[in-house]
Amino acid sequence: MDFKDVINGRRSVNFFDPQRPVPDELLEEMIGLASLAPSSFNLQPWNLILVRDPERKRRLQKLAWDQPKISEAPVVLVVLADRSAWQSGHPVVERNFEEMVASGRLGRDQRQWFDDARMDLYGQSLEKQQAFANKNTGFFAMALMLAAKHLGLDTHPMDGFDHQAVRELFKVPERYWIPLLLAVGYFKAGETLLPPKWRKSVPEIVVDFESG
Ligand SMILES: Cc1cc2nc3c(=O)[nH]c(=O)nc-3n(C[C@H](O)[C@H](O)[C@H](O)COP(=O)(O)O)c2cc1C
Repeated sequence: MDFKDVINGRRSVNFFDPQRPVPDELLEEMIGLASLAPSSFNLQPWNLILVRDPERKRRLQKLAWDQPKISEAPVVLVVLADRSAWQSGHPVVERNFEEMVASGRLGRDQRQWFDDARMDLYGQSLEKQQAFANKNTGFFAMALMLAAKHLGLDTHPMDGFDHQAVRELFKVPERYWIPLLLAVGYFKAGETLLPPKWRKSVPEIVVDFESG
């Protein structure tokens, strides 16, 4: 699919066909494509919980403004942002360092610089750790939605949910934030997709705080 078709075609769809499952291989391909999203220091602070079981989806729906798309979509992704994925000793940090050394991008003697840079950027406050985890995971989530569209799937991102209750339901460790839930499936035939919503214009997006 042409990129313009993907970006124009991606919509938050409210109606999923509950009878049309998403094959495991397709979901895997979608996640694999999204894993190519960029991240600071390539730290990839994202994980996913896949919710397919109808009973688990029903319980999740109750914690998410009772949005029916959670039960109707064949799979719902609980998107996780790892606030600790910058710390020394974290498996991804350590693997990343070894990969960078192996590929010649970093010398082993630059370990102190690598540690200091991450500490300086993310170690100073919980706010910075929250920002680190969520901004990078946001790029991943966008990539998931575009990859899904490319593969013929539809999605719906949701932050209308009780964060603490969802954390408890899925026993999500404290180091994670849950930036969003993502329903994935096929748009239900016979339903009407509302027209695309307005967007800010380019001049409204571009700002300049210096010129009076
Ligand atoms: C992080 C995030 C959270 C959202 N949460 C909800 C939600 O809980 N319920 C809902 O109906 N729509 C939710 N939306 C969908 C937005 O309303 C939708 O993306 C926006 O209106 C633009 O429409 P479009 O995605 O079809 O282009 C969310 C979107 C994002 C990106």
